[in-house]
Amino acid sequence: MKIRAAVLEEMGLEAPYARSRPLKVQDVDLDGPGPGEVLIRIAAAGLCHSDLSVINGDRPRPLPMVLGHEASGVVEEVGPGVDDLVRGDHVVCVFVPSCGHCDPCSQGRPALCEPGAEHNGKGDLLTGEFRLHRAGNRVHHHCGISCFAEYATVSRRSLVKVQKDVPLHIAALMGCAVLTGAGAVFNGGDVEPGGKAAIVGLGGVGLAAILGAAANGAETIIAVDQLDRKLEMARELGATHTFNAADPDVVGKVKEATKGGVDAALEFAGSVKALEFSYAITRRGGTTVTAGLPNPKAMLTLPAVSLVAEERTLKGSYLGSGVPSRDIPRFLGLFNRGKMPVDKLLTHRISLDEINEGFDRLADGSAIRQVVEFQ
Ligand SMILES: NC(=O)c1ccc[n+]([C@@H]2O[C@H](COP(=O)([O-])OP(=O)(O)OC[C@H]3O[C@@H](n4cnc5c(N)ncnc54)[C@H](O)[C@@H]3O)[C@@H](O)[C@H]2O)c1
Ligand SMILES: [Zn+2]
Ligand SMILES: [Zn+2]
Repeated sequence: MKIRAAVLEEMGLEAPYARSRPLKVQDVDLDGPGPGEVLIRIAAAGLCHSDLSVINGDRPRPLPMVLGHEASGVVEEVGPGVDDLVRGDHVVCVFVPSCGHCDPCSQGRPALCEPGAEHNGKGDLLTGEFRLHRAGNRVHHHCGISCFAEYATVSRRSLVKVQKDVPLHIAALMGCAVLTGAGAVFNGGDVEPGGKAAIVGLGGVGLAAILGAAANGAETIIAVDQLDRKLEMARELGATHTFNAADPDVVGKVKEATKGGVDAALEFAGSVKALEFSYAITRRGGTTVTAGLPNPKAMLTLPAVSLVAEERTLKGSYLGSGVPSRDIPRFLGLFNRGKMPVDKLLTHRISLDEINEGFDRLADGSAIRQVVEFQ
Protein backbone atom coordinates (compact mmCIF):
# COMPACT_ATOMS: atom_id res chain seq x y z
CA MET A 1 0.00 0.00 0.00
CA LYS A 2 1.03 3.63 -0.48
CA ILE A 3 1.48 5.61 2.72
CA ARG A 4 2.69 9.09 3.63
CA ALA A 5 5.86 9.01 5.69
CA ALA A 6 8.70 11.30 6.86
CA VAL A 7 11.93 10.00 5.30
CA LEU A 8 15.42 11.04 6.46
CA GLU A 9 17.75 11.14 3.42
CA GLU A 10 20.82 12.79 4.90
CA MET A 11 22.21 13.28 8.43
CA GLY A 12 23.83 16.44 9.74
CA LEU A 13 21.88 19.08 7.80
CA GLU A 14 22.09 22.40 9.55
CA ALA A 15 19.36 23.76 11.81
CA PRO A 16 16.91 25.44 11.58
CA TYR A 17 15.20 22.35 10.19
CA ALA A 18 12.22 24.42 9.08
CA ARG A 19 14.65 25.67 6.40
CA SER A 20 16.93 22.66 5.71
CA ARG A 21 14.00 20.17 5.96
CA PRO A 22 15.91 16.93 6.75
CA LEU A 23 12.64 14.99 6.93
CA LYS A 24 10.89 14.79 3.58
CA VAL A 25 7.23 13.91 3.82
CA GLN A 26 6.44 11.75 0.79
CA ASP A 27 4.68 8.61 -0.47
CA VAL A 28 6.43 5.30 0.19
CA ASP A 29 5.34 1.67 -0.30
CA LEU A 30 4.53 -0.45 2.75
CA ASP A 31 4.17 -4.23 2.49
CA GLY A 32 1.49 -5.98 4.52
CA PRO A 33 2.40 -8.21 7.47
CA GLY A 34 4.32 -11.45 6.97
CA PRO A 35 4.58 -14.23 9.57
CA GLY A 36 4.94 -12.80 13.09
CA GLU A 37 4.18 -9.26 11.90
CA VAL A 38 1.33 -6.80 12.37
CA LEU A 39 0.09 -3.88 10.29
CA ILE A 40 -0.95 -0.96 12.49
CA ARG A 41 -2.53 2.40 11.77
CA ILE A 42 -0.45 4.95 13.63
CA ALA A 43 -2.59 7.11 15.91
CA ALA A 44 0.07 9.33 17.50
CA ALA A 45 3.86 9.44 17.21
CA GLY A 46 6.10 11.35 19.66
CA LEU A 47 9.21 13.37 18.81
CA CYS A 48 12.15 12.20 20.96
CA HIS A 49 15.73 13.41 21.21
CA SER A 50 16.85 9.98 19.95
CA ASP A 51 15.21 10.85 16.58
CA LEU A 52 16.93 14.23 16.68
CA SER A 53 20.27 12.46 17.32
CA VAL A 54 19.82 10.55 14.04
CA ILE A 55 18.89 13.77 12.21
CA ASN A 56 21.95 15.66 13.52
CA GLY A 57 24.30 12.68 13.06
CA ASP A 58 25.01 11.96 16.76
CA ARG A 59 23.56 8.46 16.36
CA PRO A 60 24.34 7.35 12.82
CA ARG A 61 21.83 4.99 11.21
CA PRO A 62 21.51 3.45 7.72
CA LEU A 63 19.63 5.74 5.32
CA PRO A 64 17.15 6.40 3.86
CA MET A 65 15.07 5.75 6.95
CA VAL A 66 11.54 6.54 8.09
CA LEU A 67 12.17 7.91 11.61
CA GLY A 68 9.97 7.68 14.71
CA HIS A 69 10.07 5.17 17.59
CA GLU A 70 7.45 6.34 20.14
CA ALA A 71 3.89 5.59 19.05
CA SER A 72 0.45 4.24 19.68
CA GLY A 73 -1.66 2.61 17.02
CA VAL A 74 -4.64 0.47 16.13
CA VAL A 75 -4.22 -3.04 14.71
CA GLU A 76 -5.37 -3.24 11.07
CA GLU A 77 -4.21 -6.73 10.08
CA VAL A 78 -2.20 -9.53 11.65
CA GLY A 79 0.20 -11.81 9.79
CA PRO A 80 0.30 -15.63 9.98
CA GLY A 81 1.12 -16.95 13.45
CA VAL A 82 -0.04 -13.87 15.36
CA ASP A 83 -2.82 -15.26 17.52
CA ASP A 84 -3.01 -12.79 20.40
CA LEU A 85 -3.99 -9.56 18.63
CA VAL A 86 -7.06 -8.77 16.56
CA ARG A 87 -8.07 -5.91 14.27
CA GLY A 88 -9.09 -2.88 16.36
CA ASP A 89 -6.82 -3.64 19.33
CA HIS A 90 -4.91 -0.66 20.71
CA VAL A 91 -1.14 -1.06 20.91
CA VAL A 92 1.95 0.84 22.03
CA CYS A 93 5.20 0.37 20.09
CA VAL A 94 8.38 -0.52 22.00
CA PHE A 95 11.66 0.64 20.46
CA VAL A 96 13.58 -2.56 21.21
CA PRO A 97 11.81 -5.70 19.99
CA SER A 98 12.38 -8.67 22.29
CA CYS A 99 12.78 -12.14 20.79
CA GLY A 100 11.89 -13.89 24.06
CA HIS A 101 14.63 -16.51 23.65
CA CYS A 102 18.11 -14.96 23.84
CA ASP A 103 20.05 -14.86 27.13
CA PRO A 104 18.98 -11.35 28.22
CA CYS A 105 15.33 -12.06 27.25
CA SER A 106 15.42 -15.35 29.21
CA GLN A 107 16.89 -13.48 32.17
CA GLY A 108 13.97 -11.03 32.19
CA ARG A 109 15.93 -8.17 30.59
CA PRO A 110 14.17 -7.65 27.23
CA ALA A 111 15.71 -4.17 26.80
CA LEU A 112 19.00 -5.94 26.10
CA CYS A 113 17.58 -8.44 23.56
CA GLU A 114 20.52 -9.41 21.35
CA PRO A 115 18.66 -10.00 18.06
CA GLY A 116 16.62 -6.86 18.88
CA ALA A 117 19.79 -4.74 19.06
CA GLU A 118 21.24 -6.35 15.94
CA HIS A 119 18.14 -5.72 13.81
CA ASN A 120 17.74 -2.17 15.15
CA GLY A 121 21.34 -1.52 14.07
CA LYS A 122 20.65 -2.88 10.58
CA GLY A 123 17.39 -0.98 10.24
CA ASP A 124 15.17 -3.97 9.48
CA LEU A 125 12.43 -5.71 11.49
CA LEU A 126 13.07 -8.45 14.06
CA THR A 127 11.80 -10.86 11.37
CA GLY A 128 14.71 -9.75 9.17
CA GLU A 129 12.35 -8.15 6.65
CA PHE A 130 12.27 -4.70 5.10
CA ARG A 131 8.63 -3.72 4.62
CA LEU A 132 9.27 -0.15 3.45
CA HIS A 133 10.27 0.65 -0.14
CA ARG A 134 10.50 3.56 -2.51
CA ALA A 135 10.77 3.15 -6.28
CA GLY A 136 11.68 -0.51 -5.67
CA ASN A 137 14.52 0.31 -3.23
CA ARG A 138 14.67 -0.42 0.48
CA VAL A 139 13.85 2.23 3.04
CA HIS A 140 15.12 1.39 6.57
CA HIS A 141 13.00 0.97 9.68
CA HIS A 142 13.86 3.01 12.77
CA CYS A 143 14.07 0.79 15.88
CA GLY A 144 11.71 -1.67 14.19
CA ILE A 145 8.92 0.92 14.22
CA SER A 146 9.17 3.93 11.81
CA CYS A 147 6.07 5.64 13.11
CA PHE A 148 6.37 9.05 11.41
CA ALA A 149 4.01 7.48 8.89
CA GLU A 150 0.32 6.78 8.48
CA TYR A 151 0.81 3.01 8.87
CA ALA A 152 3.60 0.70 9.99
CA THR A 153 4.29 -3.00 9.58
CA VAL A 154 6.17 -4.20 12.67
CA SER A 155 7.14 -7.38 14.47
CA ARG A 156 4.53 -8.60 16.97
CA ARG A 157 7.44 -8.44 19.42
CA SER A 158 7.62 -4.66 19.04
CA LEU A 159 4.08 -4.23 20.41
CA VAL A 160 2.34 -4.12 23.78
CA LYS A 161 -1.46 -4.33 23.79
CA VAL A 162 -3.11 -1.66 25.95
CA GLN A 163 -6.56 -1.02 27.31
CA LYS A 164 -8.81 1.23 25.20
CA ASP A 165 -9.74 3.64 27.98
CA VAL A 166 -6.60 5.76 27.61
CA PRO A 167 -6.51 8.34 24.78
CA LEU A 168 -4.10 7.22 22.07
CA HIS A 169 -2.12 10.49 22.14
CA ILE A 170 -1.32 9.75 25.80
CA ALA A 171 -0.63 6.06 25.20
CA ALA A 172 2.02 7.02 22.60
CA LEU A 173 4.19 8.66 25.30
CA MET A 174 4.38 5.33 27.13
CA GLY A 175 6.51 3.82 24.36
CA CYS A 176 9.63 5.88 25.04
CA ALA A 177 9.46 8.91 27.38
CA VAL A 178 7.48 7.30 30.19
CA LEU A 179 8.85 3.77 29.78
CA THR A 180 12.42 5.13 29.91
CA GLY A 181 12.08 7.93 32.49
CA ALA A 182 9.61 6.44 34.96
CA GLY A 183 11.04 2.97 34.28
CA ALA A 184 14.54 4.03 35.33
CA VAL A 185 13.05 5.28 38.61
CA PHE A 186 10.79 2.28 39.38
CA ASN A 187 12.94 -0.56 38.08
CA GLY A 188 16.43 0.51 39.13
CA GLY A 189 15.69 0.29 42.85
CA ASP A 190 17.83 3.38 43.49
CA VAL A 191 15.10 5.98 44.09
CA GLU A 192 13.52 5.02 47.38
CA PRO A 193 10.41 6.27 49.15
CA GLY A 194 11.63 8.94 51.56
CA GLY A 195 14.99 9.21 49.77
CA LYS A 196 16.82 11.97 47.93
CA ALA A 197 16.91 11.80 44.15
CA ALA A 198 18.18 14.13 41.42
CA ILE A 199 16.97 14.20 37.83
CA VAL A 200 19.40 15.89 35.42
CA GLY A 201 18.09 16.86 31.96
CA LEU A 202 14.41 17.78 31.83
CA GLY A 203 13.08 16.82 28.42
CA GLY A 204 10.18 14.40 27.98
CA VAL A 205 12.24 11.55 29.42
CA GLY A 206 13.64 13.43 32.46
CA LEU A 207 10.28 15.00 33.31
CA ALA A 208 8.67 11.54 33.14
CA ALA A 209 11.31 10.51 35.69
CA ILE A 210 10.25 13.44 37.90
CA LEU A 211 6.66 12.14 37.73
CA GLY A 212 7.93 8.65 38.58
CA ALA A 213 10.03 9.88 41.52
CA ALA A 214 7.04 11.82 42.89
CA ALA A 215 4.73 8.80 42.47
CA ASN A 216 7.33 6.60 44.14
CA GLY A 217 7.41 8.84 47.24
CA ALA A 218 10.92 10.31 47.01
CA GLU A 219 11.14 12.97 49.75
CA THR A 220 13.64 15.26 48.01
CA ILE A 221 13.51 15.59 44.22
CA ILE A 222 16.25 17.80 42.79
CA ALA A 223 15.67 18.86 39.16
CA VAL A 224 18.51 20.27 37.04
CA ASP A 225 18.55 21.69 33.50
CA GLN A 226 20.16 24.59 31.65
CA LEU A 227 16.81 26.16 30.80
CA ASP A 228 14.76 27.96 33.45
CA ARG A 229 11.45 27.10 31.76
CA LYS A 230 12.24 23.39 32.20
CA LEU A 231 12.89 24.04 35.89
CA GLU A 232 9.47 25.67 36.25
CA MET A 233 7.83 22.67 34.60
CA ALA A 234 9.72 20.28 36.90
CA ARG A 235 8.42 22.15 39.94
CA GLU A 236 4.84 21.78 38.65
CA LEU A 237 5.38 18.04 38.24
CA GLY A 238 6.75 17.41 41.73
CA ALA A 239 10.39 18.58 41.99
CA THR A 240 11.14 19.95 45.46
CA HIS A 241 14.30 21.90 44.47
CA THR A 242 15.51 23.16 41.09
CA PHE A 243 18.96 24.30 39.96
CA ASN A 244 20.28 25.74 36.73
CA ALA A 245 23.22 23.66 35.44
CA ALA A 246 24.88 26.86 34.14
CA ASP A 247 25.38 28.19 37.70
CA PRO A 248 29.12 27.79 38.46
CA ASP A 249 28.35 26.86 42.10
CA VAL A 250 25.65 24.33 41.26
CA VAL A 251 27.47 21.26 42.65
CA GLY A 252 28.06 22.98 45.99
CA LYS A 253 24.47 24.22 46.13
CA VAL A 254 23.00 20.76 45.51
CA LYS A 255 25.34 19.25 48.13
CA GLU A 256 24.32 21.88 50.63
CA ALA A 257 20.60 21.37 49.97
CA THR A 258 20.97 17.59 50.34
CA LYS A 259 23.59 17.50 53.15
CA GLY A 260 26.29 15.87 51.05
CA GLY A 261 24.58 14.74 47.85
CA VAL A 262 21.67 12.65 46.65
CA ASP A 263 21.17 8.91 47.12
CA ALA A 264 20.49 8.54 43.41
CA ALA A 265 21.26 10.92 40.52
CA LEU A 266 19.65 10.03 37.19
CA GLU A 267 20.93 11.66 33.99
CA PHE A 268 18.63 12.18 30.97
CA ALA A 269 20.51 14.88 29.04
CA GLY A 270 22.67 12.81 26.68
CA SER A 271 25.91 14.67 27.40
CA VAL A 272 29.06 13.65 29.24
CA LYS A 273 29.06 17.00 31.04
CA ALA A 274 25.65 16.22 32.51
CA LEU A 275 26.81 12.74 33.51
CA GLU A 276 29.94 14.09 35.23
CA PHE A 277 27.76 16.57 37.06
CA SER A 278 25.35 13.79 38.09
CA TYR A 279 28.27 11.81 39.48
CA ALA A 280 29.52 14.86 41.37
CA ILE A 281 26.21 15.41 43.18
CA THR A 282 25.79 11.74 44.18
CA ARG A 283 26.57 11.15 47.86
CA ARG A 284 29.08 8.65 49.26
CA GLY A 285 27.52 5.20 48.88
CA GLY A 286 25.05 6.51 46.30
CA THR A 287 24.21 5.53 42.74
CA THR A 288 24.51 7.48 39.51
CA VAL A 289 22.30 6.26 36.66
CA THR A 290 22.80 7.38 33.07
CA ALA A 291 19.98 7.06 30.54
CA GLY A 292 20.94 9.82 28.09
CA LEU A 293 22.48 8.71 24.80
CA PRO A 294 25.60 10.75 23.95
CA ASN A 295 27.52 10.53 20.70
CA PRO A 296 29.18 7.07 20.56
CA LYS A 297 32.64 8.71 20.42
CA ALA A 298 32.14 10.58 23.71
CA MET A 299 34.34 9.29 26.59
CA LEU A 300 33.87 9.66 30.33
CA THR A 301 36.64 10.35 32.89
CA LEU A 302 36.06 9.81 36.61
CA PRO A 303 38.23 9.75 39.75
CA ALA A 304 38.59 5.94 39.85
CA VAL A 305 39.27 5.69 43.56
CA SER A 306 35.92 7.26 44.39
CA LEU A 307 34.15 4.10 43.23
CA VAL A 308 36.03 2.12 45.88
CA ALA A 309 36.63 4.47 48.76
CA GLU A 310 33.13 5.97 48.55
CA GLU A 311 31.40 2.72 47.51
CA ARG A 312 29.84 4.48 44.57
CA THR A 313 27.80 2.81 41.82
CA LEU A 314 27.58 4.00 38.23
CA LYS A 315 25.18 2.24 35.89
CA GLY A 316 23.22 2.62 32.69
CA SER A 317 19.52 2.29 32.02
CA TYR A 318 18.08 1.42 28.63
CA LEU A 319 14.35 1.31 27.88
CA GLY A 320 13.69 1.85 31.60
CA SER A 321 15.50 -1.38 32.57
CA GLY A 322 12.19 -3.18 32.86
CA VAL A 323 9.66 -5.37 31.10
CA PRO A 324 7.55 -3.25 28.73
CA SER A 325 4.60 -5.67 28.65
CA ARG A 326 4.39 -5.33 32.45
CA ASP A 327 5.41 -1.68 32.84
CA ILE A 328 3.31 0.04 30.15
CA PRO A 329 -0.04 -1.19 31.58
CA ARG A 330 1.19 -0.23 35.08
CA PHE A 331 2.14 3.27 34.02
CA LEU A 332 -1.19 3.67 32.21
CA GLY A 333 -2.87 2.61 35.46
CA LEU A 334 -0.93 5.24 37.42
CA PHE A 335 -1.99 7.83 34.82
CA ASN A 336 -5.65 6.75 35.03
CA ARG A 337 -5.62 7.08 38.81
CA GLY A 338 -4.09 10.58 38.60
CA LYS A 339 -0.81 9.47 40.18
CA MET A 340 1.35 10.16 37.13
CA PRO A 341 -0.14 13.01 35.01
CA VAL A 342 1.89 12.26 31.88
CA ASP A 343 -0.55 14.40 29.83
CA LYS A 344 1.36 17.40 31.24
CA LEU A 345 4.43 16.35 29.23
CA LEU A 346 2.53 16.86 25.98
CA THR A 347 3.04 20.44 24.80
CA HIS A 348 2.21 20.22 21.06
CA ARG A 349 -0.08 18.11 18.86
CA ILE A 350 1.01 18.57 15.24
CA SER A 351 0.52 17.21 11.72
CA LEU A 352 3.12 15.20 9.79
CA ASP A 353 3.80 18.23 7.56
CA GLU A 354 4.95 20.23 10.62
CA ILE A 355 7.53 17.67 11.73
CA ASN A 356 10.68 19.64 10.83
CA GLU A 357 9.39 22.64 12.79
CA GLY A 358 8.71 20.22 15.64
CA PHE A 359 12.35 19.13 15.71
CA ASP A 360 13.44 22.79 15.87
CA ARG A 361 11.28 23.16 19.00
CA LEU A 362 12.78 19.98 20.50
CA ALA A 363 16.33 21.19 19.74
CA ASP A 364 15.84 24.64 21.28
CA GLY A 365 13.90 23.31 24.28
CA SER A 366 10.70 25.25 23.59
CA ALA A 367 8.69 22.01 23.55
CA ILE A 368 8.62 19.01 25.90
CA ARG A 369 6.84 16.14 24.15
CA GLN A 370 5.13 16.75 20.82
CA VAL A 371 3.06 14.14 19.00
CA VAL A 372 2.23 13.90 15.34
CA GLU A 373 -1.42 12.88 15.05
CA PHE A 374 -2.93 11.08 12.09
CA GLN A 375 -6.60 11.15 11.06
N1 LIG B 1 18.05 5.16 27.71
C1 LIG B 1 17.04 5.10 26.85
O1 LIG B 1 16.46 4.05 26.66
C2 LIG B 1 16.60 6.36 26.15
C3 LIG B 1 15.30 6.46 25.62
C4 LIG B 1 14.89 7.67 25.08
C5 LIG B 1 15.74 8.75 25.02
N2 LIG B 1 17.02 8.61 25.49
C6 LIG B 1 17.95 9.71 25.51
O2 LIG B 1 17.63 10.51 26.65
C7 LIG B 1 18.01 11.87 26.42
C8 LIG B 1 16.82 12.78 26.69
O3 LIG B 1 15.82 12.62 25.70
P1 LIG B 1 14.63 13.71 25.58
O4 LIG B 1 13.80 13.31 24.41
O5 LIG B 1 14.01 13.91 26.91
O6 LIG B 1 15.52 14.98 25.18
P2 LIG B 1 15.22 16.56 25.26
O7 LIG B 1 16.06 17.20 24.24
O8 LIG B 1 13.74 16.81 25.25
O9 LIG B 1 15.74 16.93 26.73
C9 LIG B 1 17.11 16.99 27.08
C10 LIG B 1 17.24 18.03 28.18
O10 LIG B 1 18.57 18.01 28.68
C11 LIG B 1 18.95 19.34 28.95
N3 LIG B 1 20.42 19.41 29.04
C12 LIG B 1 21.34 19.37 28.05
N4 LIG B 1 22.59 19.46 28.54
C13 LIG B 1 22.46 19.55 29.89
C14 LIG B 1 23.38 19.66 30.96
N5 LIG B 1 24.71 19.70 30.74
N6 LIG B 1 22.90 19.71 32.23
C15 LIG B 1 21.57 19.67 32.46
N7 LIG B 1 20.65 19.57 31.48
C16 LIG B 1 21.08 19.51 30.21
C17 LIG B 1 18.35 20.14 27.81
O11 LIG B 1 18.23 21.52 28.12
C18 LIG B 1 16.98 19.47 27.67
O12 LIG B 1 15.99 20.06 28.48
C19 LIG B 1 18.52 11.90 24.98
O13 LIG B 1 19.94 11.75 25.02
C20 LIG B 1 17.87 10.68 24.35
O14 LIG B 1 18.59 10.21 23.22
C21 LIG B 1 17.45 7.45 26.07
ZN1 LIG C 1 12.94 7.91 22.42
ZN1 LIG D 1 15.94 -11.57 22.93
